[in-house]
Amino acid sequence: MSLPGIGKTDQIKANTKNKELKVKDKIKRIFREQFLKEPLMVFAPGRINLIGDHTDYNSGFVLPAAINRGIFMALAENGTDSCKLVSLDMGEAVEVNLKNSLRPTNTGWANYIIGVMDGLRNQGLEFNGFDAVFGGNIPIGSGLSSSAALECAAVLGISRLSGNEISENDMISIAQKAEHEFAGVKCGIMDQFASIMGKEDNAMRLDCRSLRYEYLPLDLKDCGFVLLDTKVSHSLGNSQYNKRREECCEGLNTIRKKHPKASSFRELTMEMLEDSKNELTEKVYNRCSFVLEENNRVIRAGAYLRSGLGKEFGQLMYASHEGLSNLYEVSCCELDLLVESARRLKPVYGARMMGGGFGGCTLNLIANKGKEKSISQLRQSFETAFGRKPGVYEVNVIDGARII
Ligand code: GLA
Repeated sequence: MSLPGIGKTDQIKANTKNKELKVKDKIKRIFREQFLKEPLMVFAPGRINLIGDHTDYNSGFVLPAAINRGIFMALAENGTDSCKLVSLDMGEAVEVNLKNSLRPTNTGWANYIIGVMDGLRNQGLEFNGFDAVFGGNIPIGSGLSSSAALECAAVLGISRLSGNEISENDMISIAQKAEHEFAGVKCGIMDQFASIMGKEDNAMRLDCRSLRYEYLPLDLKDCGFVLLDTKVSHSLGNSQYNKRREECCEGLNTIRKKHPKASSFRELTMEMLEDSKNELTEKVYNRCSFVLEENNRVIRAGAYLRSGLGKEFGQLMYASHEGLSNLYEVSCCELDLLVESARRLKPVYGARMMGGGFGGCTLNLIANKGKEKSISQLRQSFETAFGRKPGVYEVNVIDGARII
C-alpha cells in the first residue's frame, strides 16, 4: 500500500532512506561511545552493472550505476601514530602503526583500507593517526562491490580528514590499486569508478580505455531493477577472475602476432579473431569472442537506454548472461537457474548475472505490472531447486561517494 500523496517509487525511496539513516546513526553512535569524539561521516555506494561484464579490464565499455547500498564510515584523528580500524559487521578491530611500512595483513577487510592508506602515501598525501568504524547495508561477496565501496569510503574519508585535496580520478585509481596490491584481485576500473562518480537516477556509460563517460538517465517509470541474491559467496572466484584476465591477455598476444595493429581489445575485430582461431585454444577463443560480443552489446544497450528501458534492453541482458555462462564460464548453477526462470516470466524483460561471477546476484529488469508476482515465482523456483530462500533487494540509483 502506498502512503497517501506519494507514488510507489517515492515510497520505496522513503523507506530505504529510513533504513539507511538507521545504519548511519548506529555507526556514528558506536564511534562516539568507543572513541568519545565527533566523527566525520562518509558514505560510499556499491553498484549494479546494467550490462558489460569483464569488459573493463579489456579496454572496453561498461554501464554501471551506484546504488543505495554501501558502506558508512565514521572517522576522526586521534593524535597518535596509530590507526584503529573497526569493522562493525565482522566484529573485529585491527591496529596499524603508521611508523612502519604498510603491508597486507591476514584480516581480509582491513587490507582494503590499508591498501588505500598506502596508495595515499605513495601519492605524497600524508595523514595522521585516526580511528575508524565502518559498517554497511550491502551484502558482502554478492557481486555488488562491497569491497570497492569500502575502498572508496576510506579514500574519501582519510583524504578529507587530513585536509588533502584529491581529484576524483586519483581517488578511483588509489582504490583500484588497493584491490590489486593488497587484496590480490586484478580488477578493472568499473566498481571504483561507479562508487565515486555515480549520479542519482542515471547509469554511466564508461569507456574504460579513455575513462571518458556520459550519464544516461534511467527511465524507471514502468519497470524497475530487482536483485536476486543466490547467497553463494563469490570469494573463491578471485583466483578465477585473475585467470580470465590472463586468458584474455594470452588471446590478444596471440592475435597480435598476425595483426600487430590490434594493441588492445578495442582494435580487435571478429575477423581478426576468426583468422587466428587455429592458433588459439578453444577456451581462449571463447573468452575473446565473449569480450568482443559483450562490448558490442554495451554499445547497443546505450542506444536503447536513450529511448527508455524495456524489452530490447532486456534481450541484451539475457544474451549477456548466456555469454558469461557458456563462453566466459563465470556463472554457477544457482545464477543460471534464476535467469532461466526469469526467461519464462513475461513481466521480466531481462536478467543476467552481474559482476565478477561465481555467485552473487542476478540483476532483473521487471515491469511494474506483475512485478510482485514475478518476484515470488522466482523465489519459488529457487527454493524448489536449492531448498533455501534467495535474497531479494529492490535498489535505487543514487549519487556517488560523499561526506554526509
Ligand atoms: C568485478 C571487478 C570489476 C569487473 C567485474 C566484471 O566486479 O571488480 O572490475 O571486472 O568484476 O565485470
